[in-house]
This record gives sequence, C-alpha cells and structure tokens, in this order.
Amino acid sequence: MSQKITKAVFPVAGLGTRFLPATKAIAKEMLPVVDKPLIQYAVEEAVAAGIDTMIFVTSRSKNAIMDHFDKAYELETELEAKNKTELLKILKDIVPPNVSFVFIRQAEALGLGHAVYCARPVIGDEPFAVILADDMVEDGTRGCMAQMVDLYKEKQTSILGVERINPADTASYGIVKTPETTGQYAPIEVIVEKPKPEVAPSNLAVVGRYILTPAIFDKIKNTGRGAGGEIQLTDAIADLLKDETVLAYEFEGTRYDCGAKLGFLIANVEMALLNAELKDGFKSYLKELVKTL
Ligand code: G1P
Repeated sequence: MSQKITKAVFPVAGLGTRFLPATKAIAKEMLPVVDKPLIQYAVEEAVAAGIDTMIFVTSRSKNAIMDHFDKAYELETELEAKNKTELLKILKDIVPPNVSFVFIRQAEALGLGHAVYCARPVIGDEPFAVILADDMVEDGTRGCMAQMVDLYKEKQTSILGVERINPADTASYGIVKTPETTGQYAPIEVIVEKPKPEVAPSNLAVVGRYILTPAIFDKIKNTGRGAGGEIQLTDAIADLLKDETVLAYEFEGTRYDCGAKLGFLIANVEMALLNAELKDGFKSYLKELVKTL
C-alpha cells in the first residue's frame, strides 16, 4: 500500500438547506468567509498537507465549484490588460501548479458514506483524506490535515480529527469513545453517529477531517442505511474498527462550524480579525459596537 496521502475527497453534494435562500442556486461550500469560499480554504488545507489530487463528489447545481477551480481565461486576460497584477496572482493561486481536480457526480444524496464510496474508482487501493469544507479549521500554521498526515506517516492507520464539544450537542456529530489518556491521540473503542446526550459514549466529536485506509470501501459497501436513513461513514468506520486500529486525534487549532449560521458568522468575524487589510478598521468598529450592546 502506498504510504503517502496524495488524494483528498471533498463531499460537496449536500443541499445546504440551512443556508437557504443563499444556497438556492449556489453550493454552500461557495459561501465566503471574508473573501474566500469555504471550499478554497479546504483545498488549501489539503495542498498544505502535500495532497495533489482533489476529488469533489458533487451534484447538480454545483457548477460554481467546478468553475472556481478552472482557469478563468477572460478574467485573467482582462486583469492582465489592466495590469492588475495582485488580483491576477490571487486568481492564479486558486489552482496551484501540479494539483489536479476530479469531479464525480453523486446522483442521489444517500449520505456521507455513499459520497465517499463514489470516489472509490479514483482512489483505488490507497489511503486517502476526507475533508468536509463546512468544518473550517484555523491553526495559524501548517493546517489540520498536515498535522494528521504527519501522524499517519508514523502510525500508518486510519485517523479521525476530533474535538471536545458541549455534551448537549452530541446529536449533531459522530461521537467516539477512547481509553482515558492525556495524549493527543488514542485508539477509538466505539463510534456512533449522532447519539442523544443521554446515550452518548463521551463528548469527543468527529469533525470533518478523516484519513482512511482503502479497507473502508468494502465496509461502506456493506453498510445499510443508518441515522437519518442515510449510508453513514460513521457506521462503516465502526465496522472497520473490528479489523483495524482507528485513531482519534485532537488536532491543534480552532474549528468553526460553518455548516450553521452562528458558526459561519463567528468564522467571518475571527478571520476578519486575522486579515491584514481589515483587522484595524474592523476592530475599531467592533469596539464601538460592543459599547452599544
Ligand atoms: C457529518 C458526519 C458526522 C461528523 C460531522 C462533522 O455529519 O456524519 O459524523 O461528526 O459531519 O461535521 P453532518 O454534519 O454532515 O450531518
């Protein structure tokens, strides 16, 4: 088995109903945090982890994602003619050299497990990453997936990015149980999709970062419909646990739940405060605003 993670799957076929009407005609992954769409943050995180093949599992009306990672010939010509070199660079940097983009249609929205399975023909027999763009992680350095790839190099086994959440919120996440440890990672003993707080095995939640061995594909194939009537990746991972070690890794950095309006707004505020061009003006505005609250 290849030991390097070179491919990442981005499941982007969801309907994004929580952001309607904004997501009526565009994918939720195209919603911008400050000035960049969520999906671009996710792709940049993959590139920073040394990944060079980006596989999007998409659906109808997600063409904007494909266009975003395509060469914008007219725009580039126009910017070149007007000598707008900075803007031209921003545009060209969206598609780094030596990175390929593959688009696969998920004809039916049958769940995250099914979406990942759709990438099987492109992945083949290699370990790979899965990144859910609506979980945005900012660690100020190399990125969450690079942290996980480093751990993979050492452990050569599946790894899930996890964080402690409010115990009242377990029904929104895959929840894992690990042995008590003070370390940053531990083998998963149990994983369940969206348990109610009263039956949750812990408050350690899976966020949208996975490194999976290709053994997951046969597991997904044999997974029936689970929570919400969907083919859940979590259920396939529960099955994988019977054969292989799967590690829970508490990554460094802040995760923003951009799949929810509040998390999305928080991400915009915090990323604006990190933005060189905006931070001073925005901070002054916020200070004044706070006085009125
Ligand atoms: C998915 C997964 C869930 C995970 C979550 C992270 O759920 O099924 O296990 O905890 O992503 O964001 P979704 O948010 O798509 O319902």
